[in-house]
Amino acid sequence: MLPKWFNDWNSKNPADIYGPAILVGTLGGAVFVAIALVTLGQPYKTDSMQTGPRGTGMSVPEFVTEVKMADPTIEAYYTEEPYLPEGGETLAKDEYQNVQVLGDLTVDNFNRLMNAMTQWVAPDEGCAYCHGDADLEDYGEDNLYTKVVSRRMIQMTQNINEGWDGHVNANAQVGVNCYTCHRGQNVPSDIWFKIGPTTEATAGWAAVQNRVTVQSQYTSLPSDALETFLLDYGRIGVHNLESHVAEYPDEEGVTTWQDTERTFSLMNYVSNSLGVNCNFCHNSRAFYDPEQVTPQWSTEQLGIGMVQEINNDYLVPLKDEYPPERLGPVFADAPKAACKTCHKGYQQPMQGLNVIADWPELATTEAPVYASAEEAAPAEDDTAEAAADDSAADDAAADDAATGDDAPADGDSN
Ligand code: HEC
Ligand code: HEC
Ligand code: HEC
Ligand code: HEC
Repeated sequence: MLPKWFNDWNSKNPADIYGPAILVGTLGGAVFVAIALVTLGQPYKTDSMQTGPRGTGMSVPEFVTEVKMADPTIEAYYTEEPYLPEGGETLAKDEYQNVQVLGDLTVDNFNRLMNAMTQWVAPDEGCAYCHGDADLEDYGEDNLYTKVVSRRMIQMTQNINEGWDGHVNANAQVGVNCYTCHRGQNVPSDIWFKIGPTTEATAGWAAVQNRVTVQSQYTSLPSDALETFLLDYGRIGVHNLESHVAEYPDEEGVTTWQDTERTFSLMNYVSNSLGVNCNFCHNSRAFYDPEQVTPQWSTEQLGIGMVQEINNDYLVPLKDEYPPERLGPVFADAPKAACKTCHKGYQQPMQGLNVIADWPELATTEAPVYASAEEAAPAEDDTAEAAADDSAADDAAADDAATGDDAPADGDSN
């Protein structure tokens, strides 16, 4: 209820207040949006990572909000610093019955790694996932396939870090451990199986094309690219500057339109695995030209060799160990890995978090080397330190059969 004098005055002085009100409202709204943009930032702002020389259009644009988004699995990552051996500790191979790979670890470090492997691969099931409900004294038995597979996984991880250093430590020390692939799950995400024609009647291009599969990344591109290139060493290159008029698709060495689609299928998979576009590696005016590529192109080439080795030397031979439900739906083949098994859609797995510094046991196929020169004594003469460290490491490598006094000696030298 408004006072009577106001109603009287109002009826005597009619005025259009809607016009001014709309004006004030619009101006106010604009000021509000402007202030919000200045203080809170533009939500659809993009940033672009330049990957090639200026003017070539080689860049990877990304929403700033997404760039900042952390890989959610990083938070659950478990790590623990090693116990630096001081000499005289009992080694795992002397303490336990059946340690075939991790024998040179001190008992403390051995158990530290067992605990971490549990967190990385079987946090819900615990030690029992690989050791069953046996008593601790019977943990030496190899009753469960999970333990047999894990032993090979340890060797595979050591080999990746040692032999493919140029890939997994391409920019900085990053490395891989079980968590890089497993992320707290028994079966890592983004593994793959063979897919394709099962009988002669269904053979042919139609069997692998236009099918909604993970292998084709849900495109109409061929689904057999991973198999052809990351298992069977197929030739990826399809492009040359020659005329193809006189060629026939069946001839040896002739690449067809279909081969091109398969190459594109792989490249599309690679781009999705890393969350980047083609310009991250290629100058798209000349996909064929290895002189116009970025350094990441070479990192990928190493990655292709690494994945071929992971699959052929480690994962495929494990086929007979797995229970039937772990094998592929079409060919009952062993589960295999590729770029996405580690990268999970990020340019660097775990967004470049160093997952190997705390785990020298997984960094080498030889006796682990603890406390690298940098960490041990930054104040002292670095070169001397490094040399001392190196020779200790070499000793350790040289007499593998030695009782394991190497590790303590190495600890002392630091
Ligand atoms: C993901 C699989 C896995 C999990 C989980 C696991 N282990 Fe193991 N464990 C292994 C493998 C593989 C070996 C054999 C290593 C080798 O041969 O070098 C082993 C060996 C052992 C041994 C040596 C047994 C012997 O006498 O030879 C002990 C002790 C052990 N583990 C304790 C544990 C404890 C405690 C836990 C839980 C905190 C655990 N492990 C969890 C895979 C696992
Ligand atoms: C390069 C990726 C990669 C790394 C690194 C890796 N794994 Fe695996 N792991 C796989 C793949 C692929 C499988 C097969 C999945 C399946 O079993 O269906 C597998 C299977 C397993 C299984 C069997 C699980 C099951 O339930 O079938 C265990 C146990 C295991 N890994 C332990 C480990 C341990 C321990 C490490 C570290 C020492 C490790 N893995 C490192 C890729 C990896
Ligand atoms: C992470 C780096 C990387 C990304 C991203 C990438 N490529 Fe490639 N690409 C390579 C490498 C390395 C080769 C060479 C492989 C070989 O021949 O061993 C290659 C080869 C090719 C070839 C064959 C070239 C020839 O000589 O015939 C084509 C075509 C191609 N890529 C297209 C693409 C397209 C299209 C995209 C985006 C969907 C893409 N690439 C994304 C690294 C990459
Ligand atoms: C065993 C795990 C693993 C697999 C499998 C793997 N990568 Fe990587 N990749 C890494 C790690 C770890 C790094 C980080 C290296 C660094 O930044 O120092 C990396 C880095 C890269 C980089 C460099 C990124 C940058 O920022 O410079 C490229 C490109 C790449 N990987 C491509 C691939 C491709 C393509 C494949 C499949 C053919 C592949 N990777 C498979 C672990 C893996």
